[in-house]
Amino acid sequence: VIVCNTIESFREARQHLGPLAFVPTMGALHAGHMSLVKIAQSHAPTVAVSIFVNPTQFGPKEDFSRYPRPVEADLALCEAAGVQLVFHPDLDQMYPADAARLQSDLPALTRTLEGASRPTHFQGVIEVVTKLFNIVQPQTACFGEKDFQQLAVIRAMTRAMNMPVEIVACPTLRDPDGLAMSSRNRYLSPDERLRALCISRALFEVQKRAAADRNVASLDSILRERLDDPSSDVPFVLDYAVIVDASTLAPIDRIDRPARALVAAKVGSTRLIDNVALGD
Ligand code: PAF
Repeated sequence: VIVCNTIESFREARQHLGPLAFVPTMGALHAGHMSLVKIAQSHAPTVAVSIFVNPTQFGPKEDFSRYPRPVEADLALCEAAGVQLVFHPDLDQMYPADAARLQSDLPALTRTLEGASRPTHFQGVIEVVTKLFNIVQPQTACFGEKDFQQLAVIRAMTRAMNMPVEIVACPTLRDPDGLAMSSRNRYLSPDERLRALCISRALFEVQKRAAADRNVASLDSILRERLDDPSSDVPFVLDYAVIVDASTLAPIDRIDRPARALVAAKVGSTRLIDNVALGD
């Protein structure tokens, strides 16, 4: 694997290569990321991965400084998976101190759900993914469905700005007990991990019921009921548990179109998100 720490060296390496599929990451790679790499490999002969913990998508009270950065292990995983190019820039490459910042937004998609409690998060994601697309010049880019709102925002961004990049949605990878894989799972204590399992269990139950019951109010109450566990003393603070239209992320009353059930909760001090598809 060729590892480039500067935009110039990446561009130099990239210019000799043809169509490229891209997996943007913040590192701390796990099997979920590697499944994105595998999907990327089925889309283009060359795959590039970026590893960059992007400060602009973290709020002031979020975990930017403690976000895991196991770079050697990440590079070994990329090498073993047959990734050809890794872009691993430092902060100054991506955000030079003397460069003005161009910030854009897609208010129809970024104000709700994650955006309600993380008001500048998606502007940061839009900013860094635009930069990465301009540097990497991919034909295809793979994003996990676990960050479902991010996927919707990126799709809308490429469409709104006519970016010539095909966005591929990749299914969420789960541990055998159902917990959605996430770099943040490593923060969970064994008790917190056990409590966190109610998130995927609640979502799967609602997914199963939605096959027969199309009424969102009743599915909503099942979702909330299953997330509650009065017998546990692990701090669990629900941020949202909603059922929305899968493309607009707007609330719906009936499952009469592709829909999504999404949950975000803080388990101990770790914020987790997960979601499942409902309807056809
Ligand atoms: O999903 C992520 O890991 C990040 O939000 C991304 C897309 C790499 C942008 O920093």
